[in-house]
Amino acid sequence: MTIDLAALPHDFLWGTATSAYQIEGAVAEDGRSPSIWDTFAHTPGKTAGGDHGDVACDHYHRWREDIALMRQLGVGAYRLSIAWPRIVPGGDGPANPKGLAFYDELVDGLLQAGITPSVTLYHWDLPQVLQDRGGWPERATAEHFASYASVVAERLGDRVTHWATLNEPLCSAWIGHLEGTMAPGLRDLTAAVRASYHLLLGHGLATRAIRAAAPDAQVGIVNNLSTIHPATDRPEDIAAAHRMDGHTNRWWLDPIHGRGFPTDMREVYGVELPERPDDLETIAAPLDWLGLNYYFPQTVADDPTGPAPHARPVRRAGVPRTGMDWEIDPTGIETLLLRLTDDYGARRLYVTENGSAYPDVVRPDGTVDDPERQDYLLHHLTACASAARRGAPLAGYFAWSLLDNFEWAYGYAKRFGLIHVDYATQRRTIKGSGHRYAEIIRAHGVRARRAA
Ligand code: IFM
Repeated sequence: MTIDLAALPHDFLWGTATSAYQIEGAVAEDGRSPSIWDTFAHTPGKTAGGDHGDVACDHYHRWREDIALMRQLGVGAYRLSIAWPRIVPGGDGPANPKGLAFYDELVDGLLQAGITPSVTLYHWDLPQVLQDRGGWPERATAEHFASYASVVAERLGDRVTHWATLNEPLCSAWIGHLEGTMAPGLRDLTAAVRASYHLLLGHGLATRAIRAAAPDAQVGIVNNLSTIHPATDRPEDIAAAHRMDGHTNRWWLDPIHGRGFPTDMREVYGVELPERPDDLETIAAPLDWLGLNYYFPQTVADDPTGPAPHARPVRRAGVPRTGMDWEIDPTGIETLLLRLTDDYGARRLYVTENGSAYPDVVRPDGTVDDPERQDYLLHHLTACASAARRGAPLAGYFAWSLLDNFEWAYGYAKRFGLIHVDYATQRRTIKGSGHRYAEIIRAHGVRARRAA
């Protein structure tokens, strides 16, 4: 299997990604206030082994070392998220100079290393004070998000051009408010639908705020999408797959493309949206790019008595899976890139996350070999290049993740990094997949330079 590197543009961005709560630690330092994830992770029974992000990868103190590792990988870009509770500890109101100073230095460090920062404003760490006031089900949260976005863009916008508003709003709304296995841990359809609406409204308001503060900003949003397959060719299962597609994909893509919220899904949820005039226009603010996070496909069957969207996941036997028990299907990433291109008219796309967890071990010689992750990477990059060859305007790929980190409710047991982290010592070791990624980046660079 070889990647069709010639299909990728010469200035293709090769990156890695992380998020604040998953790596930073230092949760009580320099004025940071607790987020909903601090609360959730410290609630007994919510995360595997009671793991939490108090220390995580200690990136808050070790970011210089982490930038040096990125240089070793040869990446040209780094997708990070900003912790809202570090910047505006009160949720709204005054900004925290120490929080801003941290990201200021980090951005400068990246730029000095020749690495383009790609900044995501919200990767799930809502200040707990805002949750106490109702969280995303309340409209005020969207407005506070825009104010926070404005503070960050004003401070970093002279050096950061690549901005994302939200990471995976699906997880915040559906997993956090409907399934209850992520913060804030609710199981309430009305709260979930209201949260989804206000997340997208917050995205639109923040897009406007970023552009006002940083006129050169290139703004996008990051969605985690899946290909959805019916378990059988029964009409009921086909309809269930269509509903799951609405729940997973269309609910998030249609409104930002000016198509409003899908009417079939409004009926499925049966929850009144907290709509106000002009909201749909705000939500559909023109974007410079779309981010795709892709991990796995889904197969579903009709489940009329189950929770919305009344589609039950079906486990397919005999298919390869990662350590997350997620089915591996690289064709899904190609299908979704082409769907964003053909059905939604995307003009610039990034794969903002893609990766796999496996139970890696450090060998006696100090190396970490991870052939399965290398295969996953290779196959998915091959599919990305194929999508580009078929017309998808793919401008970059960010491997999830730079480092092993706090995998939310799964804790530290699930390792997604290209770099292994020994949490007892904070020792970092580039895995085989990291070396493989570096080779691919180098090979693409050689080809691009020759062609220039
Ligand atoms: O670790 C997460 C990340 O925070 C969001 N996207 C999926 C990753 C793997 O589960």
